[in-house]
Amino acid sequence: MLASGQWAFDGPLEQEFETRFAELQTARFGLCVANGTVAIQLALEALDVGFGDEVVVPGFTWQATVAAVIDVNATPVLVDVEPETYCIDPEAVEAAVTDRTRAVIVVHLYDGITDMDRILEIASRHNLAVIEDCAHSHGSRWNGRGVGSLGDLGTFSFQSSKSLTAGEGGFVTTNSEALREQMYSLRNCGRRRPQSLDSQWRPIQSGNYRSTEWQAAVLLAQLEAFPEQLAARERNVRYLDGALAEMPGIRTTLRRPQVITQGLYGYIIRYDEVEFGGLPGAAFREALSAELGLGLLAPYEPLNASPLLQPLTKRRHHLSDDYVRRIDPARYSLPVAQRAWTEATVLPHELLLLPSSDLELVPAALMRLRDHLPALLDWQKPSAA
Ligand SMILES: Cc1ncc(COP(=O)(O)O)c(C=O)c1O
Repeated sequence: MLASGQWAFDGPLEQEFETRFAELQTARFGLCVANGTVAIQLALEALDVGFGDEVVVPGFTWQATVAAVIDVNATPVLVDVEPETYCIDPEAVEAAVTDRTRAVIVVHLYDGITDMDRILEIASRHNLAVIEDCAHSHGSRWNGRGVGSLGDLGTFSFQSSKSLTAGEGGFVTTNSEALREQMYSLRNCGRRRPQSLDSQWRPIQSGNYRSTEWQAAVLLAQLEAFPEQLAARERNVRYLDGALAEMPGIRTTLRRPQVITQGLYGYIIRYDEVEFGGLPGAAFREALSAELGLGLLAPYEPLNASPLLQPLTKRRHHLSDDYVRRIDPARYSLPVAQRAWTEATVLPHELLLLPSSDLELVPAALMRLRDHLPALLDWQKPSAA
């Protein structure tokens, strides 16, 4: 690649990666884009979602999912997540539908997969487009189909914290030929894909959202190891689910029978504050990290109170008084997301590549926290004061 001089877009490595990653996700088409945020923005543009349209989104996700909706001048409608998966609650989606709703974005978050059977049924009844944000879920399958191939479009991130990465990068999947052609033009300054046979294609306005041959080269190399890593992580997910199942005060993510293969960004451990004598979530996380000698992560903050979702600070979002009121995240109540923020600890996906014998340290550490709860509560008091 270095010697070829073809470093930018549409190179042979990018085309090979697009074919192979789309196949992994069982989608007909795939396109590399600059990052996972842009992937969502362009997916919305390909669906012609814009001003006046509402898009239902989960209130518990990385800010990009919601920011992309605002960046196309549509209105994000934040709804709560299911406590068992932290993915969007289908009941809440249905309750949020109005005559302005055009699309729903589901996020397969951390180690959860959205109940796609329910979402697709609701979407078809209300004539909504479905975008799957799969930034956390490379390789996952629902009912045998790759995530990202179930809705109209799927989006992925290859940013450095993800389980498949080129440092930065993004991807869009679709089964629709027309959406594929739209996506190509949207990522490449409005140009028509050179091989396009789409008779419906029309010139459109867009900019440069392309990826590079460098990233494709790195991703292709990563793809070699990926199936083995996916299988190892999945084995460890099943091991931890089993080992933590009977532990008092601890819960793990619900894996519905439709989850055939589980990709993940992080393994979620939920503790019950009451069972742990009122120990605050941050102290539980700190103690578990100390026991394991690792820095475990806090989950995302609920997006109705996130310092990273501040649309009103950007002048270009002040389209009208009504719009300013509608895009203010503070107007939503998200009690499940709020609880998730305190009760969840995230084990990064890298840890799930360890041999299962090392992961036995996790249930052992949790048992020690319970066995030494009085000491833990005593330890925590001075720091909370
Ligand atoms: C759920 C989710 N959606 C979207 C994104 C955006 O991806 P990127 O960072 O590549 O723009 C991320 C990245 O962290 C994410 O976690």
